[in-house]
Amino acid sequence: MHCSHELVNILSCGMILAGLGHLIHHKGAQAAYGRHMVHKGPAWMVPAKVAWFLQEMPALLVPLLLSLSSHSSSSLGQSLNILNCLFYGRTFVYALLTRGRPFPVRVMVAAGFVCSLNGFLQSYYLLHCAQFEEEWTSKVHYQIGLSFYQGLILFYIGMAINIHSDYILRNLRKPGEVVYRIPKGGLFEYVSSANYLGEILEWFGYALSTWSLPTLSFALFSFCFIGPRAYYHHRFYQENFKDYPVLRKALIPFIC
Ligand SMILES: NC(=O)c1ccc[n+]([C@@H]2O[C@H](COP(=O)([O-])OP(=O)(O)OC[C@H]3O[C@@H](n4cnc5c(N)ncnc54)[C@H](OP(=O)(O)O)[C@@H]3O)[C@@H](O)[C@H]2O)c1
Repeated sequence: MHCSHELVNILSCGMILAGLGHLIHHKGAQAAYGRHMVHKGPAWMVPAKVAWFLQEMPALLVPLLLSLSSHSSSSLGQSLNILNCLFYGRTFVYALLTRGRPFPVRVMVAAGFVCSLNGFLQSYYLLHCAQFEEEWTSKVHYQIGLSFYQGLILFYIGMAINIHSDYILRNLRKPGEVVYRIPKGGLFEYVSSANYLGEILEWFGYALSTWSLPTLSFALFSFCFIGPRAYYHHRFYQENFKDYPVLRKALIPFIC
């Protein structure tokens, strides 16, 4: 498939603008699911397991289909695309295990749209536009090669934090319960949204390793989307638990 840099730039800038738009308007536009659900009359709901499966599925399916139908010359591009798919293998695990409350259909549809778009953007770029071999192996680009490995390490650290933190959250509830408790252990000792911290580190690590606008655009989008959410989660804990640890921050340990 021919690479259209114009398409890649438009989609990447769209992703960044959507994130910044959310960051600016986050008070009125917090994605209404989980504890931030607002009850303004009846809304169509689906079980959380179904919602997470359907909304994240395109993030796995689109890159996989593009990968199977592409004759990309870059084996590193293929590998990085598979790495992206691997992460979204969590689609099955997370959806199967979640003990979250039912999910509004309109939030699920919006999330599914973002996952489809992002899945296409990342894969299209990695398989058809990125030219890793020349840049990454050249001595002139030694510094970039170094960022590749540092980025991968950050990606795996973030992924481990994210998975471990989601595990802690899940085990705060018995099956069928809808209560909130104070999370303990892991990075929750330092921040209220350790799972979000892991997710953000992960995508910035991925952006560093691929050193590209599309991956940076998703890292920024994630930061703008879950950053404010971490603040509202933190405020929720402080308002609802008198014994909430006073030194715990919202998202960044020791800072905020
Ligand atoms: N890249 C992105 O832009 C992006 C965006 C959104 C989410 N994500 C990722 O998707 C995953 C889930 O996100 P999320 O927004 O649902 O995270 P979340 O609000 O932290 O909730 C995660 C799960 O744990 C439950 N939970 C949270 N705090 C709890 C507590 N104190 N006591 C008991 N149960 C608790 C939630 O139940 P309820 O649903 O009933 O509250 C939900 O099932 C995370 O790994 C996140 O990083 C990524």
